[in-house]
Amino acid sequence: MKKTKAVEPIRWRGDRLELLDQRFLPNKTVYVTCRTAEQVARAIRDMVVRGAPAIGCAAAFGVVLGKGSAKAHEVLRKSRPTAVNLFWALDRMKGAKDLEAEARAIYQEDLTANRTMGKLGAELIPERARIMTHCNAGALATAGYGTALGVVRSAKDKKISVIACETRPYLQGARLTAWECVQEGIPCTLITDSMAGHLMSKGDVDVVVVGADRIAANGDVANKIGTYALAVLAKRHGVPFYVAAPISTFDPKIPDGSHIPIEERPADEVTGYRKLRWAPKGVAVRNPAFDVTPAELITGIICEKGVVLAPNREGIRKLLG
Ligand code: MRU
Repeated sequence: MKKTKAVEPIRWRGDRLELLDQRFLPNKTVYVTCRTAEQVARAIRDMVVRGAPAIGCAAAFGVVLGKGSAKAHEVLRKSRPTAVNLFWALDRMKGAKDLEAEARAIYQEDLTANRTMGKLGAELIPERARIMTHCNAGALATAGYGTALGVVRSAKDKKISVIACETRPYLQGARLTAWECVQEGIPCTLITDSMAGHLMSKGDVDVVVVGADRIAANGDVANKIGTYALAVLAKRHGVPFYVAAPISTFDPKIPDGSHIPIEERPADEVTGYRKLRWAPKGVAVRNPAFDVTPAELITGIICEKGVVLAPNREGIRKLLG
């Protein structure tokens, strides 16, 4: 099998941050250079970099570029609302004596956490499993390796395959997850989101593994829009449904999922794609970018500290110590 270079979504160069521009993948591999906190905040807002842990890492380096100023913190805090990793990283940077060392540590710890999660998660995956995933929770969404796709990578020897939901409207599944799998020779089948129920009803899905943007104290999980529907379908068809996310994605201050802020994104992501428009002018549009999956639909949450099966308030409290 051909050897592939690891995907590098975030490159810190000492005086600047280089971000792989995910808006153009898989067609073009270009990096955006950020020299100020404002540029990093814009890159997060505009989805140059996306995925909860990657947003946290990028923001940490944004604070370094902004020399830890209140203005840098403010502009980064406003970049996107749902992924708690952003606020977790900014809070951590506030308490740091050496900003660059702290940002590097946040990045390194994320890489390590993903490898650990991968190992723990792979134990839950049966031989030859057909693993459905949603959005992109891969190397691109993290410092590297990935959360849900980290589990997939670690289970590669079990001859697994991936079913990637395309993830309307922003197509993170079709563009990013499919690309990561193809790059690495992981067998991957792309489907549109509405095909998931049919495949589950036919017995074509063995397990679902997704990432998370924020996990409330009771185990409710916010993740990419469409995750909730997959969890309901998985329950209906007896398919195990796992969430893989690092400790930085837990928000114990949020009692349950109903309190998680859900980002609403621009209407033009729904009415068309890039320059192409298919919906009539004048139609009303909703574009919530995330939804909440209640803990009761989740078989287990995989994080670097362990796996919480049938997550609930008690289990999450124990995990977080
Ligand atoms: O809008 P995005 O692309 O930032 O949303 C990303 C997701 O929902 C991911 O599943 C989540 O951040 C986990 S990434 C390891």
